Amino acid sequence: MQKFQLKIVITSTRNERKGMAVADWFIEKAKANESFNTEVLDLKSIDLPMLDEPNHPKLQQYQYEHTRAWSKTVAEGDAFVFIIPEYNYGLPPAMVNAVDYLFHEWMYKPAALVSYGGISAGLRSAQMSKLILTTVKMVPLTEAVSIPFFANHINENGVFVSNPSIDNAYNIMMAELEKWTKGLKYMREHFV
Ligand SMILES: Cc1cc2nc3c(=O)[nH]c(=O)nc-3n(C[C@H](O)[C@H](O)[C@H](O)COP(=O)(O)O)c2cc1C
Repeated sequence: MQKFQLKIVITSTRNERKGMAVADWFIEKAKANESFNTEVLDLKSIDLPMLDEPNHPKLQQYQYEHTRAWSKTVAEGDAFVFIIPEYNYGLPPAMVNAVDYLFHEWMYKPAALVSYGGISAGLRSAQMSKLILTTVKMVPLTEAVSIPFFANHINENGVFVSNPSIDNAYNIMMAELEKWTKGLKYMREHFV
């Protein structure tokens, strides 16, 4: 069976970020999915500078090694999951920065969104992310995992404890992600 390359992008870069518990929960589940090889892209450790390339990414005339490395990593992906918090009703700056660095490498690839926050479940952040993701021609999925009051799910050991409703959202989103991954890979191979 063909396996697709799933890149899980952790977008909070804060010290002592709480979203790592959500990310760890997601990564553990995704690793068991036989349709995907998973790789974690932690924007904190990848540590891209604030966008410093002189040319538009559509030209792919990258001047810096960090951009070339990021380009290679993203180009390898068939599908992406972004784990996103919400800051001031918006998406994390590291995610905007990481997306802005590239163009063709993201194009015609599906993006699944796992958002977390307070009462909003990070939905405003997820919704805002669609504006930039669609501009680099990614396909953000309608189906998502949106976790309200996520801190209430983190136990005394710092482990995220899911519930049937979150697990159900996960299953629906991943089934949809698989469909789009196959369809868009075919599209990239035949029409781009
Ligand atoms: C600058 C800042 C702005 C925030 N704004 C929001 C917000 O708009 N909505 C929300 O649900 N939580 C907001 N929060 C609370 C975050 O949900 C909470 O801090 C969460 O832990 C952030 O994820 P992280 O720890 O993985 O970075 C904000 C936190 C920070 C630091």
